[in-house]
Amino acid sequence: MNTRLKINIASKLDLKTVIDLANKIWPISYKGILSEIQIQNMMDKIYSLENLTYEIEKLGHVFWIANDEIEPVGYISAYVDGDNLWIKKLYILPEKQGKGYGSHLTNTAVNYFKDAKAICLFVNINNKGAQTFYKAKGFEVIDTVPVKMGDHDFTDFIMRKLLYGNKTNNS
Ligand SMILES: CC(C)(COP(=O)(O)OP(=O)(O)OC[C@H]1O[C@@H](n2cnc3c(N)ncnc32)[C@H](O)[C@@H]1OP(=O)(O)O)[C@@H](O)C(=O)NCCC(=O)NCCS
Repeated sequence: MNTRLKINIASKLDLKTVIDLANKIWPISYKGILSEIQIQNMMDKIYSLENLTYEIEKLGHVFWIANDEIEPVGYISAYVDGDNLWIKKLYILPEKQGKGYGSHLTNTAVNYFKDAKAICLFVNINNKGAQTFYKAKGFEVIDTVPVKMGDHDFTDFIMRKLLYGNKTNNS
């Protein structure tokens, strides 16, 4: 466990930090996967204060922000639908990736929604880096589906990991 990493649930007042992080992370992480126009559309539609507030207040999404010793470094949002915990967003600053932060954020959501029997997510079929991360964490592809994000259509994999007795450690 990285003891310098602090993970806190985000209030509505913290959503500005989520938006700032998304604006730094998305253009780099989705370069070659999404066009600049598509990325800007996601920032305008999905990462508007209005939409993120809607996700918290109306859809029951919970956001966490991870801070290392000097700055916010990433965020996750998740919700429960039946027995499934869905990871909706998981993003780490490019220069902070590969340090275990994404794993810690995932474990935080799993431990919070402790009755979930499986953890699921959508990932763009061309986002090989994220797929490698999820496979390393024990997820497998269970479906391929069309998705609409903002004004654009994409194809995603649904990945899932069954949780046995839940409560992950930091693996
Ligand atoms: C995917 C992401 C959230 C992973 O977070 P992270 O902090 O970089 O990952 P961790 O340091 O916790 O890595 C955990 C494991 O995944 C592997 N891994 C992480 N990112 C990887 C990548 N891009 N390629 C290959 N392996 C990767 C690590 O080697 C590590 O393996 P180990 O636990 O066996 O040592 C982060 O890289 C990210 O923000 N990527 C860009 C945005 C994105 O695609 N988000 C997902 C949208 S669905």
